[in-house]
Amino acid sequence: MIILNKIIDMKCQINNWKKSGLTVGFVPTMGYLHEGHLSLVRRSAAENDRTVVSIYVNPAQFAPNEDLADYPRNFEMDAGLCEINGVHLVFFPDNDEMYGENYATFVEAGKLAENLCGKSRPEHFRGVCTVVCKLLNIVSPDRAYFGQKDAQQLAVIKRMVRDLDMDAEVIGCPIVREPDGLAMSSRNAYLSPEERKAAAVLSRAVFAGERLVRGGERDAERLIAEMTGIIQTEPSVRIDYVEAVDAGNIAKINGLKGQVLVAAAIFIGRTRLIDNFIAKVE
Ligand code: PAJ
Repeated sequence: MIILNKIIDMKCQINNWKKSGLTVGFVPTMGYLHEGHLSLVRRSAAENDRTVVSIYVNPAQFAPNEDLADYPRNFEMDAGLCEINGVHLVFFPDNDEMYGENYATFVEAGKLAENLCGKSRPEHFRGVCTVVCKLLNIVSPDRAYFGQKDAQQLAVIKRMVRDLDMDAEVIGCPIVREPDGLAMSSRNAYLSPEERKAAAVLSRAVFAGERLVRGGERDAERLIAEMTGIIQTEPSVRIDYVEAVDAGNIAKINGLKGQVLVAAAIFIGRTRLIDNFIAKVE
């Protein structure tokens, strides 16, 4: 497995593979890898001749009051996990390499960033789009893999790739969970043992919501109220949002119909956790 820090070396390596007719799969990450990330890595390794993982905690997607400085990092562990899961190349740049002196250009996510996480994190998706655009230009993958866990991010990136005529095929992959249901996340490392126990209420609400929709619930307000009620049984949890939106546009919907994304975000102490499900409603 190769580890590179420089964009020019990345382009050279990828060019060599492309010249040999090899397909390239790409998994962008912020590191501190867990089974959620690794499920994307293994899918890429199964579907492409070469798999590239980027490990970069992107400052542009964190607001000044957020957890950039505390974000968990362990490059040695990540590199080991990449190696045993079939990665050929790890891109591990620093901030100077990604946003050098006089860096000026950003990609706006537009309407898809207005609801859900975009409301409480107004600059977040601009940072995500900018770094993912740069990474896709650096890696030029045939396929890029993203988790459904960050459903709004996946929708925003699919739209960016379409709108900006980028070549990569964007592939969404299912949410990987802990045995008690909690969606895996690098941020779960912040939780104290008590908070970790309380965090399971989020997936309980998501599963209950999913069961209700499968069982025929078509009233969004009732669905949201049910899910909110479940989360509120845990007094240490503060709700950021519980919402149902159109899964493609992330736009408000009246009734539950079409491809519906039901998403929730909560705070436990200072840790922000998200979860969701997508339902196809006739
Ligand atoms: P990060 O949070 O490290 O996640 C990297 C990728 O792993 C994302 O596509 C995310 O959706 C996916 N992922 C995380 N937890 C998952 C889980 N439990 N199940 C399935 N997939 C999961 O998302 C980012 O980094 C950044 O915003 C990034 C796209 C790298 C841009 O900086």
